[in-house]
Amino acid sequence: MRGDIKLIMKKIIVGNWKMNPETLEEAQDIAKEIKKIASKLKKIETVICPPSIYISNLKSKISNLPVDEAGLKLGAQDVSAEFDTGSYTGEISAGMLKNIGVKYVIIGHSERRAMGETDEIINKKIKTALKAGLKVIFCAGEKERDDEEHFLDFIKKEIEGGLHGVEKKFFRNIIIVYEPVWAISSGKKFRPDNPDSVFKITIFIKKTLMPLVENGALRSIPILYGGSVTALTAREFLEKGGIQGLLVGGKSLIPKEFSQILEIADRL
Ligand code: 13P
Repeated sequence: MRGDIKLIMKKIIVGNWKMNPETLEEAQDIAKEIKKIASKLKKIETVICPPSIYISNLKSKISNLPVDEAGLKLGAQDVSAEFDTGSYTGEISAGMLKNIGVKYVIIGHSERRAMGETDEIINKKIKTALKAGLKVIFCAGEKERDDEEHFLDFIKKEIEGGLHGVEKKFFRNIIIVYEPVWAISSGKKFRPDNPDSVFKITIFIKKTLMPLVENGALRSIPILYGGSVTALTAREFLEKGGIQGLLVGGKSLIPKEFSQILEIADRL
């Protein structure tokens, strides 16, 4: 029982590499450095999500140890909405990802939404990934804040749209990320959110999830924060944001800084 509780409380730190780096050699170097530290940290789940083209190679390089013992899990940044293989040029199926050792997939990221992904597509991708046995890192977050708090309705709509009709039994494989678009470091006028606001929105997300999940299951759904997280801000977000982990973009490509974030999470 104690073990179960510990498992539920494990912090999850995810690195989203986005469309970086340019070469496989650089990707190997970054992954090797992160692995060194991740293999020593037992209290957190470390996930890196490189571009799909590097995953197979990194898996073999990362895992001369079995993946779980290496302490580093691999995630993809996207997946096809189609479950069965077939004539879908350019797509990668959930089954393909699963079969090369991928454990997680990011779905609903605002950068993909900006490319035209709707709640309906995201919903289909989530169901497909869950059916294949992947864990889903489902992102939601508003483009801008307003004083009347209409942005909360926006977050609710994204969450309900993405999770519409997902069977209750699958919720154990869902992680929700609150990632406000305005806080992402690649934005023109970005600024990180603050832990108090993240705490409030975490509670709002839990309330939104309540009718969708089985009694008692809510506590085991991790909620993460993403948006300009650095080694300087990670502790505050984890301590005061009511969250179980972080989704890190830019800083996950800098092994030294990402390692610091991992160490901070492991010590809490
Ligand atoms: P940054 O950490 O660079 O702001 O990126 C956040 C993000 O989009 C992670 O998915």
